[in-house]
Amino acid sequence: MNEKFIIKGLSGKRALNGSIRVSGAKNSVLKVLASTVLFRDEVTIKNVPNIEDVHKTIELLKNLGSSVEKCGSGTYKIKTNPKGSTRLSSSISRQIRASIVLTGPLLARFGSVEFPHPGGCVIGERSIDFFIEGFKNMGAKVSLSRGIYKVSVNKKLNGAEIFLKTQSVTATETFMMTAVLAKGDTVIRNAAMEPEIKDLAVFLNRSGAKIIGAGTTTITIKGSPSLIMKGKTHTIMPDRIETGSFLVLGALCGKKIEVKNCNPEDMGIVIETLKSVGVCLEVRKKSIVVYGAKKINATNIKTHEYPGFPTDLQAPMVVLLTQAKGSSFIFETIFEGRLNYTETLSSMGAKITMMDPHRIIVSGPTPLRGKRLESPDLRAGLAFLIAAIVASGTSELHNIYKIDRGYENIEKKLTDIGVDVERVQE
Ligand code: EPZ
Repeated sequence: MNEKFIIKGLSGKRALNGSIRVSGAKNSVLKVLASTVLFRDEVTIKNVPNIEDVHKTIELLKNLGSSVEKCGSGTYKIKTNPKGSTRLSSSISRQIRASIVLTGPLLARFGSVEFPHPGGCVIGERSIDFFIEGFKNMGAKVSLSRGIYKVSVNKKLNGAEIFLKTQSVTATETFMMTAVLAKGDTVIRNAAMEPEIKDLAVFLNRSGAKIIGAGTTTITIKGSPSLIMKGKTHTIMPDRIETGSFLVLGALCGKKIEVKNCNPEDMGIVIETLKSVGVCLEVRKKSIVVYGAKKINATNIKTHEYPGFPTDLQAPMVVLLTQAKGSSFIFETIFEGRLNYTETLSSMGAKITMMDPHRIIVSGPTPLRGKRLESPDLRAGLAFLIAAIVASGTSELHNIYKIDRGYENIEKKLTDIGVDVERVQE
């Protein structure tokens, strides 16, 4: 059902107070869920966020024949059906990019997989050539007819050297999982280094895999077709993107907000960037306290693969910089369609000049006015929510299912710190 948020803006006042708890990371849990296909026995996963993309991935697993049992809040027990299907549901796969990470484990475990081009946020060309090339490199046959890829291998996949042209996160994760059951060693070069990748490797190694170098640009996987992955319990790491989003909100509208259950070690560049523009932060072991910034200075942001500035936090950061004194230059290096949302911020009163699809200049500070807004994707949707809270007047934010894809109970978390936001039927 269609819902919208009604938000009463704070007109730039720093009025929010209290603590906000970060949930399990969307971009970790979707891959850990996919990795259960590699296991013969049951896997228990804890701290699973209650978000749309998790629901869809669980639906995909059930569709393949897996048994999925929800036991208590945020805990799931999952067991793959050895005689299950290896055809990913097109309707579901076309809604989330992360469906692509299921392809490798299915191919590795069962020798075949069928899937459509994945869906997900419309933020640019999101090809899957790395996946297709990599599967062929490991000895699989690939065909495409009527939009469905069919990938199969007679015996087992062979270990291979996989050189990624760009440090693709999901391609790194997919081949790390696929190679676990291949014959011989696989080396992934120019691998992505996101913390979620390292966390996935820790889980797989605890379960019997031999993965070396996760978190660096070269990952070696010692594959074994006869490996029996021992189902273990894994607790999903905190969501660093949610953490960063709340720090931005606190800097803009907070008196004092404690962002709890986060991992500051994953937040290096975000913490440094916020401090550099004048935001006062107290970094503790598992939480970060943010104080509303009286004055925010302009700065330059260049998104980059980890440990650079995360592209998923680019939109919330731009909202912060609309309130900064001076001109900020933002260079979105990863996705060519990830600055389109800024037109809407301009219609709220922001002063943003688009130089080209990858570059904008933001001049501030400019007061923002509430209005009717539509979430174009998950991260820009959250950025609009933050902008509506900063703004004067009331905003209506539509398409909020896109926000629900990656943020658990967001309006409860926000009302608990004093935001006037209500979820209503369209
Ligand atoms: C992951 O997407 C995340 N999604 C994205 O988060 C995140 O923005 C992105 O990594 C970058 O950090 C998930 O983990 C589910 P990429 P992914 O492959 O893996 C090109 C969010 O909001 N490429 O790292 O799909 C691609 O076109 C989402 O949570 C190829 O050319 O991103 C892009 O230009 C949005 N061929 C670049 O690599 C391929 O086969 C980086 O994309 C694969 C990727």
